Amino acid sequence: MTASERAARWKRAVVYQIYPKSFRDGNGDGVGDIRGVIEKLPYLKDLGVGVAWLSPIFASPMIDNGYDTSDYCAVNPLFGTMADAEELFEEAKKRDIRIVLDIALNHTSTQHPWFQDALAQGEKRDWYWWREGRCGAAPNNWRSIFGGPSWSQPDGDDQFYLHLFDKSQADLNWENPEVRSAIHAAMRFWLDKGVGGFRLDVVTVISKEPDLRDVIDPRPAPLYRHIAGGPRLHEFLREMRREVFSHYDCIAIGEAPGVDPARAAKLVDPADPMLDMIYHFDLVAMNPVVAGPWDRVAFKRIFSAWDKGIGANGWNSVVISNHDLGRISSRFGDGSPESAKMLLTLVLTQRATPFIYQGDELGMTNAPFESLDDIDDVWAKTTYRLAREKGRTEQQAFAATVAMTRDHARTPFQWSAALNAGFSEAETTWLRVNPNHTTLNAAAQEHDGASVRAFAKQLIALRDDPLWVFGAFEDLAPDDPDVFVYARTYEGRRAVVALNLRGEAKPRPDCVPALTPILPNAGTEIDTLAPWEARIVLV
Ligand code: NOJ
Repeated sequence: MTASERAARWKRAVVYQIYPKSFRDGNGDGVGDIRGVIEKLPYLKDLGVGVAWLSPIFASPMIDNGYDTSDYCAVNPLFGTMADAEELFEEAKKRDIRIVLDIALNHTSTQHPWFQDALAQGEKRDWYWWREGRCGAAPNNWRSIFGGPSWSQPDGDDQFYLHLFDKSQADLNWENPEVRSAIHAAMRFWLDKGVGGFRLDVVTVISKEPDLRDVIDPRPAPLYRHIAGGPRLHEFLREMRREVFSHYDCIAIGEAPGVDPARAAKLVDPADPMLDMIYHFDLVAMNPVVAGPWDRVAFKRIFSAWDKGIGANGWNSVVISNHDLGRISSRFGDGSPESAKMLLTLVLTQRATPFIYQGDELGMTNAPFESLDDIDDVWAKTTYRLAREKGRTEQQAFAATVAMTRDHARTPFQWSAALNAGFSEAETTWLRVNPNHTTLNAAAQEHDGASVRAFAKQLIALRDDPLWVFGAFEDLAPDDPDVFVYARTYEGRRAVVALNLRGEAKPRPDCVPALTPILPNAGTEIDTLAPWEARIVLV
């Protein structure tokens, strides 16, 4: 297979993200695991996805659920054994599903032996970023993405170490060639076992200006913009390609906070590809549940901007949901099956590789968390603590925490109406199941032709037509605050997609041909778009 044939295969695939801890518990301990994923491979096959990306399965103290790695070449016993992982890779391959592993390579757990050695002033001290404090306080003004300072000083140490995330996640010093070789070796270890590639966690921040200067606006989101795309990022990624990816039939997906389309385009330029696709943050950062009314025009502009920046040269992915966000149907919709279908249509009809987060194909919704005890997310707990420190009442702090917590996406997968939603046979599960599993579950939707699951399957199948994969994208009504209308054009064929982004009926915009839709999700009136209607017409 030539490099361009391989690239085309990745472009055509639909990626399905599995959060192993919440997908299916195969050994009855209340926590999802690798055997659970193996058991559910037929479900993925039936859905029609070509790639399954697993959030981290490596050894970890699980403070950030695996994004705090303590051994890159070991399977977390919570998830199973190396033999389980190898069986998963084999079984998936038999079904033509490639397994992509998630690697948090910007930082390790502070429990990683590398950091423990650094802490003991050993040979690996320089594998992390250590700096003297300024007048007893942190060495610079950066704020951790999870809130609070991004520096901590271990007891008895006269220096601080950098952590862009939780204090249990120390940033690796990529300036040190030994660090880079160690990460390359870990990647090769898994690729040799037959994995199909990696999703590289926050890869755009691995290179930092070694002087770690203050930034003008140190708050978390601007921090990404200030420090992403550091001076040696291209060099590090080219080296990784040369040392690792170029030797395998694999994909490198970069999680890319803080870069705009122009900078991202360089990372996926086919003439000098560092990554195969990137996963930008402009859509991920939009959360009307936290930030107030949904600016639909701004939302639509993001799609045009990224398609213009990368669409025809290089490759985009489209990610509006993952394990870090509220459920799409609660964030942008009203939790109804119609809004879930409309949002799936949006994801699956772009010129980009679509990413479906587990459960979105059923229309799973945010959870009704009632107390802090229901919440596990380390970011959410920090948010609560900081809100209380700022003088917010318990109620206010809890409301802010429930709005933002990533646990909405992490409640167990809803397989059926049975005990624990069919996720686990244990008495209790690590996060409580959403009570709506009694009606909203995979089994109930299996034979229902009008279900979200059936709709998702049809949309995935639609992508067999290259029009949907490669067709040019054009926003036909960029200023319309209600309806997202775009055309996809390929070798003389044209389709128009009209998505009603509101839960009220809207008149059919003139640019939407009065033709009978394929795959209607709601409504039957040609001249009216029903609430949350997704209409696709072939012109
Ligand atoms: C991005 C991951 O998606 C998130 O879950 C994690 O907490 C941070 N990176 C830190 O690794």
